[in-house]
Amino acid sequence: MTDIDWDELRAVATEAMHRAYAPYSRYQVGAAALVSDGRIVSGCNVENASYGVGLCAECALVGDLHMSGGGQLVAFVCVNKEGQTIMPCGRCRQLLNEFALPGMLLETVSGIRTIDEVLPDAFGPRDLEEVSR
Ligand code: THU
Repeated sequence: MTDIDWDELRAVATEAMHRAYAPYSRYQVGAAALVSDGRIVSGCNVENASYGVGLCAECALVGDLHMSGGGQLVAFVCVNKEGQTIMPCGRCRQLLNEFALPGMLLETVSGIRTIDEVLPDAFGPRDLEEVSR
């Protein structure tokens, strides 16, 4: 976990950001994550004329994760058009948590944080295992 190349992750996120479809907000976002097997997955935001249907960059990223073989997320970053690191929105923290390796790291506006720090007491897959169905 200590040898994460954050510069590379940010570069991949920036590349993804250039593919964003954000004609309504004009706020382009790119996200990238390191997967447990060493792959890097990425995504951009894809908006819609029906505004509420727009997809965050993290949605495309988890799609890329699954389409390229699955696995767990080790480290994550997302950037805007200015190349600034931005926080994943609340819904996207939940999306990321589903596929997070325990202790997954995020580069945030306040430094490197764990998934548990940005989504404390998360509801996750294990909560569903605990109930009898
Ligand atoms: N956005 C993302 O792609 N990810 C986030 O975590 C924050 C917000 C997008 C959604 C929308 O297309 C634009 O940024 C403005 O909110």
